[in-house]
Amino acid sequence: MTGQHDDPLDATAQTSTGGPALTRKQLLRAALVAAPLPILLAGVPALARDGDALDPTPVCDDGDDETPPQMEGPYFKPDSPQRAAIATGLPGTRLTVSGYVFGTSCQPIAGALLDFWQADSAGAYDNVGYRLRGHQYTNAQGAYSLTTIVPGLYPGRTRHLHVKVQAPGRPVLTTQLYFPGEPRNATDSLYDPRLLMTVRSVAGGREATFDVVLEVPGVPPTTPPATPPSTPGGTWAVGQVYAVGAQVTYGGAAYRCLQGHTAQPGWEPPNVPALWQRL
Ligand SMILES: [Fe+2]
Repeated sequence: MTGQHDDPLDATAQTSTGGPALTRKQLLRAALVAAPLPILLAGVPALARDGDALDPTPVCDDGDDETPPQMEGPYFKPDSPQRAAIATGLPGTRLTVSGYVFGTSCQPIAGALLDFWQADSAGAYDNVGYRLRGHQYTNAQGAYSLTTIVPGLYPGRTRHLHVKVQAPGRPVLTTQLYFPGEPRNATDSLYDPRLLMTVRSVAGGREATFDVVLEVPGVPPTTPPATPPSTPGGTWAVGQVYAVGAQVTYGGAAYRCLQGHTAQPGWEPPNVPALWQRL
């Protein structure tokens, strides 16, 4: 991808039900933030900024919440150029859309293709050339960032972006992304609130986030055992299911589990204070 990240938004927030429980995705984000790993170096968007409590959609927490497909519509064109900035030189309200592509275990998917197309600020598609069309690939952390303009309205539809998303070697998901607060959301039969982006106004335009969840299995299992072991082994281990109150040792220190979860690489107790309290 051509790549400039325009300070993408974070999308950590409460669950969609407003409850206090952390979703797996939030835990994953916490792990990405906390892990002192080389993967967190150049090109990685800022994550988990405390002041940006925005509601992610969809919530990746139970393995059955893949991003829903939507019709392609009449304006897709194959062979779009590879670029993350698709509106260079065009009039309109500047818009960045950023997020992650996850599998159903909330594992980030690197190298996933995202092919965007959209109307211009007057509601017109370029069906001759490739204006407002472009594809890119997620980075090693599964992140993408699109630089564009807010699409205009055209008859019969609410405001939307089109995108195709494909994990390497997997089927293509074709869908559309929507803007909150649009009057036509109530009357567009295609509109789906599960496809709402989180959008906020910023100096010079708008910033949006949306995380795509593809039907790609991964580690850890999407369905943890119904009855977590009551006394996990004395040493923390990847793949182990930990219940609240479970105690482990790691690096010579003892920790108590604060949130039930399945341990993943990068979630080592000293890295994820949201999960583990040192005793
Ligand atoms: Fe459209």
